[in-house]
Amino acid sequence: MEPVLEVVGLSKNYAKQAALEAVNLSISPGEIFALLGPNGAGKTTLIGAVCGLVKKTSGSIRLLGIDLEVDPISPRRDVGLVPQEINFDPFFTVRESLELQLGYFGRPADPARIDELLEALALSTKADQPTRALSGGMKRRLLIAKALVHRPRLVFLDEPTAGVDVELRRDLWSYVRKLRAGGTTVVLTTHYLEEAEELADRVGIIDKGRLLLVEEKGALMKRLGERRLEVHFRAPVATLPPAAAAGSLSADGLTFVFVERAGAPACADVLGALYAASLPVADVNMTPAKLEDVLLRVLRSGNGSA
Ligand SMILES: Nc1ncnc2c1ncn2[C@@H]1O[C@H](COP(=O)(O)OP(=O)(O)O)[C@@H](O)[C@H]1O
Ligand SMILES: [Mg+2]
Repeated sequence: MEPVLEVVGLSKNYAKQAALEAVNLSISPGEIFALLGPNGAGKTTLIGAVCGLVKKTSGSIRLLGIDLEVDPISPRRDVGLVPQEINFDPFFTVRESLELQLGYFGRPADPARIDELLEALALSTKADQPTRALSGGMKRRLLIAKALVHRPRLVFLDEPTAGVDVELRRDLWSYVRKLRAGGTTVVLTTHYLEEAEELADRVGIIDKGRLLLVEEKGALMKRLGERRLEVHFRAPVATLPPAAAAGSLSADGLTFVFVERAGAPACADVLGALYAASLPVADVNMTPAKLEDVLLRVLRSGNGSA
């Protein structure tokens, strides 16, 4: 299938520094892609270049099969953006600001769509309030509704849940999944790595304007994620079975720790070996691999092989 977005050799230089350096990225229809990286990495700049808020220095961008050099307008009509900064007119009501947004995108009035979004984002009771009366979390939800009201085929969520409470964050996650189920492509940037872990099909890691890695999330976690097995014994253990030799025993013989890297040997097999050797296992703790650790490892090494 043709990519929804294809960025080739994209660079952006500001007066003092390069915000993007020769970025290549291809986004497939219907995927949730998480773009991760520290503050100042270039995430918002990349999104801005696609959405027409940032003027690129060089490179090319194909959006929905159309080169933006050739037609910068019509493909962008099928894109939604939840910006990092809250930016709406405080004097319109919630409903009016959604109606206006449809107008900006050249779409006819669609009250059913507006009601559906207000409902989905728990804003129905605020529909006729001025946007300035909304709480921070509600403002963020309205931004999301605004980005979706014209039924875009590609949506950028730039830190969509910053300042949104935990419960609502989960609601938003299920809404994002629903979007994908309906065929919408989603590109997400986030500080909450749990969010990317939860939602993303693929992950890209960017730092200092360079895209260091793009990989399917499961494969990335398997390749660079570390699972930790910790076993406590009822009585001191003197020797480990050979299959558990990759782990380490505390000086008092009561605690065993093993870290699984790249899936081998597997925690399950190591634990099985402890049981098979009839060691006096009292308690077992498993810590799953975390995307946060993977991200830090990649950022530290400065490349995708970490
Ligand atoms: N309008 C601007 N003028 C000058 N520098 C900018 C501007 N916008 C962003 N930058 C710089 O470009 C880099 C990338 O910023 P940004 O894309 O916002 O990063 P991120 O979204 O990953 O935090 C940063 O170093 C930032 O300071
Ligand atoms: Mg940003």
